[in-house]
Amino acid sequence: MKNIVVLVSGGGTNLQALIDAEKNGIIKSGKITAVVSSNPNAYALERAEKNNIATAVIRRKDYEDFKSYDLALTDLLKSLNADLVVLAGFMTILGHEVISAFENKMINIHPALIPSFCGEGFYGLRVHEAALEKGVKLSGATTHFVTEECDAGPIIMQRAVEVKNDDTPETLQRRIMENVEWKILPLSVELFCSGKIRVKDNKTIISD
Ligand code: GAR
Repeated sequence: MKNIVVLVSGGGTNLQALIDAEKNGIIKSGKITAVVSSNPNAYALERAEKNNIATAVIRRKDYEDFKSYDLALTDLLKSLNADLVVLAGFMTILGHEVISAFENKMINIHPALIPSFCGEGFYGLRVHEAALEKGVKLSGATTHFVTEECDAGPIIMQRAVEVKNDDTPETLQRRIMENVEWKILPLSVELFCSGKIRVKDNKTIISD
């Protein structure tokens, strides 16, 4: 059984999808043991508490510089014995220490079809604003391992949804969350926990 630690910053609907997936057996090879938030007011923390999951808060602004924040987050995740770290709407940039400590053991969900609308500055609603501005007909979400280059690590799963003529960033975001994010994140976590993901040449090979 893998020990899963989830990093959050906001509403935590992806965290909720993971909690539900554990309850209904979609995630069966791992257990969410802690939720770490960059924001003390994140509703995601309440979701964790309601489900008796341990919580912690770590804020970048409480550290003098980025390096000490990076080291503190690494120590925290190690002390929680994380086998897998999941970034579920975590909005703080990660540093070299934590990324190298959890190489191929840290999964992010990004709300677009990477390599479109990703990289620094593309997060939350901004991603959907950019997709609508470009006029793409399909968008979606991607799960991937985290590497030092933002949103550029090995892709695990992707699924698409159609963009509608009257979409707003909010309606597109909602459709992608409901139809893609809340499904592929739990599935990717179970693939990892059951040992079915191998990484070679910055690509994943998934066994059935
Ligand atoms: C989700 O759409 C997630 O994909 C996105 O933030 C939202 C968090 O929602 N993440 C990023 O943009 C990361 N670059 P949630 O707190 O309800 O899960």
